[in-house]
Amino acid sequence: MPPQPPPPVPDFIYGTAWKEDRTPALTELALRMGFRGIDTANQRRHYFEAGVGQGLAAAYRSGVVTRDDLFLQTKFTYQPGQDHRLPYDPTASLSVQVAQSITSSLDHLGTDYVDSYVLHGPSSNHDWTAADAEVWEAMRKERDAERTRFLGVSNVSLRHLQQMAAARAELPAFVQNRCYARLGWDRAVRAFCREHKIVYQGFSLLTANQEVLHHPLIASLAASANTTPAQIILSFARAIGILPLTGTTDAEHMKQDLASRDVKLPPEAVQAIESVAG
Ligand SMILES: NC(=O)c1ccc[n+]([C@@H]2O[C@H](COP(=O)([O-])OP(=O)(O)OC[C@H]3O[C@@H](n4cnc5c(N)ncnc54)[C@H](OP(=O)(O)O)[C@@H]3O)[C@@H](O)[C@H]2O)c1
Repeated sequence: MPPQPPPPVPDFIYGTAWKEDRTPALTELALRMGFRGIDTANQRRHYFEAGVGQGLAAAYRSGVVTRDDLFLQTKFTYQPGQDHRLPYDPTASLSVQVAQSITSSLDHLGTDYVDSYVLHGPSSNHDWTAADAEVWEAMRKERDAERTRFLGVSNVSLRHLQQMAAARAELPAFVQNRCYARLGWDRAVRAFCREHKIVYQGFSLLTANQEVLHHPLIASLAASANTTPAQIILSFARAIGILPLTGTTDAEHMKQDLASRDVKLPPEAVQAIESVAG
């Protein structure tokens, strides 16, 4: 397999976790507000993927977007990360579970392909295991069958990625991680991604970094740029190469989050924010 071309990715991703019955309306609202990237998972415990599909269908019906305008991303989640509402037969092999899970995702989302299919998390916090290798191979087959355009991994450490590379596994097009300022905004994983041309998606940028969000430096940068502190953090994230996710449930915040794309921070401000924590 030749190296993957850089995927055409949106510059912001709307996350659909934890929205339950509000999922269809919030997905449609996010599209109306201008988001073109949608993240979900076939993990009913935290996501209502079929509700995302309902929101997409509503947006298609009203002419807001077409499928071709969108970047749809969903995930395969191992059984320990699920509740009883499984999208696969837990007695089947992992390869079959992947095939069943993506079939169910495509049905939920009303599409015959997703743009990115992500392993929600490796089976062990420490190592890239034989189970992960089996799942990854099954995901690669789905990609080769054009049921997904690209592959990703989530909740990974540098060690996982190095072990994938050492095993000569195909590297992902995307990494999606929680981004803690106190860990240098996931510095080590981001460096690996940069080196291997992997797009790094960051989530919990605001929720995991309240100490930075409320830091006087951020307040003063926000005041001088006439923005909100949240917009400063999102703009900073982009400046250090992170493709941000937001899961806001508020129309005004959706607008502000998208507008953060136009907030340009000078390099000194980026450096100063980096040194607030980690
Ligand atoms: N791979 C994984 O394991 C994993 C784990 C967690 C999340 N995710 C993905 O990442 C997505 C986003 O998750 P997240 O943790 O980053 O976000 P989130 O939990 O949905 O939280 C965003 C928070 O920031 C607030 N917010 C957003 N924009 C704001 C603004 N402009 N001003 C003030 N507050 C603002 C929101 O409040 P309001 O609602 O009031 O705006 C909300 O409290 C999820 O939906 C999911 O798709 C993936």
